[in-house]
Amino acid sequence: MRIAVFSTKPYDCRFLEAANSGGHAFVWIEARLGEATARLAEGCEAACLFVNDRADAAALEALARGGVRLLALRSAGFNHVDLAAAKRLGIAVGRVPAYSPEAVAEHTAALILTLNRKTHRAWNRVREGNFALDGLLGFDLRGRTVGIVGTGQIGAAFARIMAGFGCRLLGHDPQENPDCLAVGMRYVPLDELLREADIVSLHCPLVPATRHLINARSLALMKPGAMLVNTSRGAILDTGAVIGALKSGRLGHLALDVYEEEEKLFFEDLSGTVIEDDVFARLLTFPNVLITGHQAFFTEEAMRAIAETTMANVAAFAATGTPRHPVG
Ligand code: NAI
Repeated sequence: MRIAVFSTKPYDCRFLEAANSGGHAFVWIEARLGEATARLAEGCEAACLFVNDRADAAALEALARGGVRLLALRSAGFNHVDLAAAKRLGIAVGRVPAYSPEAVAEHTAALILTLNRKTHRAWNRVREGNFALDGLLGFDLRGRTVGIVGTGQIGAAFARIMAGFGCRLLGHDPQENPDCLAVGMRYVPLDELLREADIVSLHCPLVPATRHLINARSLALMKPGAMLVNTSRGAILDTGAVIGALKSGRLGHLALDVYEEEEKLFFEDLSGTVIEDDVFARLLTFPNVLITGHQAFFTEEAMRAIAETTMANVAAFAATGTPRHPVG
């Protein structure tokens, strides 16, 4: 099959080529998928997409006109695909349901440790010969309450890590996960989790019910000075409300690997340009905010697994007309 790979970076080529045991042909496309770029996939039967490619109805119609019959997502999340339009157009969608939940869970722990113990600030200070400790005060994780919203594969991996630190675990999820119960998690309604947790970490998918799940009302329920961590999807937070809570001091710490409007920013080197997003620029001004650019998934193991599952979806579709891990 000919596969149009949108949002290609050098590391995508490396891992997809290595996983291409079926001899499929790649068309590397640096641009993101959108209505205007969809025609670049003309003549390809599959389009391979990453998280900020926008597979809305218009883009899907253009892909279908060019011959695309399969969307092979290089991601677990599929909120960037209009599934109803894909179905209507006869385009199958395959995703990578699990590649390395540990990659995201470990990055979440890294953000918490960095933000709490301020190692990013200490690193800068020490390089400048400033060994003062003022402003670097943290807290012990042992004995703290961690609230995990969404206890699927990543939430469970994160629960195991935080159990290791001696944290008390609260969970909120429509479905209880036995792996989380096994490490001592107690399931509670969301409001109770928000009231009791010292650290709230989001691991649920972005679906209509979770859009702005954390808003002005939920922030007001959180413990004063609590830490909020989002490594899931940006729009689960109402960013404006979060900025309000940071300004008032109600929210003590914020760590983000994802951002509501990230498709205009993340995965590109914008160091020589002016950031036009005033909300993002405001977030960068807070000393108690730590942001990474959607890198939680980015480990050797995860990239290898993503490439292998993507190519397994392609192989299954070529053989049977259905990807190995279909969506919808
Ligand atoms: P999963 O499907 O294994 O788990 C998601 C869990 O969220 C499920 O248990 C589900 O029941 C629960 N859930 C659904 N609606 C909920 C609600 N309203 N409230 C609470 N829980 C709810 O998914 P997985 O693999 O754990 O991934 C979670 C999310 O992490 C993905 O949807 C994706 O958005 C994000 N992600 C972020 C990455 C990054 O690099 N930052 C990489 C991979 C995933």
